[in-house]
Amino acid sequence: MTQRERNLGAAVGCWPERLRAAWELFRAQLPAQAPALTVGDYGGGRQDLRALLPEGWNYTPYDHLPRTPETVVCDFNEDPLPAARHDVIFCLGVLEYLDDPARLLRHAFEHADWVVFSCFQGWKPWRAWREGWRGRLSRRALARVLEQEKIRVMAHAPWRGDGGIWVCRGGAAA
Ligand SMILES: C[S@@+](CC[C@H](N)C(=O)[O-])C[C@H]1O[C@@H](n2cnc3c(N)ncnc32)[C@H](O)[C@@H]1O
Repeated sequence: MTQRERNLGAAVGCWPERLRAAWELFRAQLPAQAPALTVGDYGGGRQDLRALLPEGWNYTPYDHLPRTPETVVCDFNEDPLPAARHDVIFCLGVLEYLDDPARLLRHAFEHADWVVFSCFQGWKPWRAWREGWRGRLSRRALARVLEQEKIRVMAHAPWRGDGGIWVCRGGAAA
């Protein structure tokens, strides 16, 4: 297991910065008086997202490491994907660790009205090796998923050159 997956101390790198950027991008899509939502956090890591949520929102972290007692422990490469539905599912910094990142993304779209995700689209073998990344969602592969699932991209921000953050209305949205 890589240092990043262990999610310890300095190894968290830019995760908090990316999380805040993603949260603000998502929050800007909601009306100021939005009702409390249920949030699933796929690959939730330190679960810093929980602290950003307004009062009354419900938070469920999923990770292959049992980081807190309430973590739903699930290996997205090995186990059946989570059956629970949420109003919004966050997939930040996790798709890169998967053999088939499109599979988890499709699943999120089918189980949430909103999906907020990040991914890197270039492929640098050295970086992938160092970070323990396994899969890749190319621009073309991502475009195919968005089209097939009839996903509306509501907001997008570039992230660190070849990466991005997307806020989408999932296929499950009314
Ligand atoms: C880069 S961290 C991102 C943490 C958090 N989402 C954030 O952005 O601050 C990736 C997280 O995905 C989890 N992860 C990696 N591979 C996984 C897998 N196969 N199944 C479930 N979780 C996984 C790691 O344990 C880690 O918590």
